[in-house]
Amino acid sequence: MKLQNSAIASCLHSAAAALAVLFLVCWTEQVVSKPVHLSPPLKDSKMHKDVLEVSHEAQRKELEEDTSIRLMPRVNHTQNHMEICCLHANILNFYLNNILHKYSSEHPNMDRLKTNLHRVSEDLQTQGCNLTHYHDHRHTVEFRRKLERMEDQRGINKAVGETYILFTYLHDYCMEPKAATDAIDVSKN
Ligand SMILES: *[C@@H]1O[C@H](CO)[C@@H](O)[C@H](O)[C@H]1NC(C)=O
Ligand SMILES: *[C@@H]1O[C@H](CO)[C@@H](O)[C@H](O)[C@H]1NC(C)=O
Repeated sequence: MKLQNSAIASCLHSAAAALAVLFLVCWTEQVVSKPVHLSPPLKDSKMHKDVLEVSHEAQRKELEEDTSIRLMPRVNHTQNHMEICCLHANILNFYLNNILHKYSSEHPNMDRLKTNLHRVSEDLQTQGCNLTHYHDHRHTVEFRRKLERMEDQRGINKAVGETYILFTYLHDYCMEPKAATDAIDVSKN
């Protein structure tokens, strides 16, 4: 009888432990692996498709000698994510004001794409991106300088061809801080 009791107790103990692990796994998934984008269009699959197709269309208009040029600076991954996000929100704003309307696209969803990009820009500003703050950032300056060096339409085609790079950075970095550690990082800056 005593033996049975301890066997049951031990069994219950394992069950409780297993349940605790299960709870921990579920909780961790909730907290860690469900990042929330700061703007809904960033996770919209139709938008992904529009971005890729318009970028490819512009790339086909590039001259042979321009294919190895890259305007968009590469991200420094060790930088704070919200800073990387807002830096690219500044570049997005530049696209909206100076690039996209100079590009004539045959793509049927170009207007939808522009509307969505405007929405992303507004959302990111609402979420705390100060665009002015990044105007003189090394990366935004470098981007504008490289663009200026290219002739007007060649530069426009090149920039539109890189829309998918811009979008990928916004998609990857414009997230709500996922965990307490990230939140602390954000508040440090
Ligand atoms: C990347 O960012 C970190 C932290 O801000 C900085 O210390 C480092 O020098 C940067 N690296 C480059 C290559 O700019
Ligand atoms: C945005 O950044 C600029 C430049 O750093 C600064 O002068 C301005 O006060 C900032 N605006 C807000 C609302 O923080």
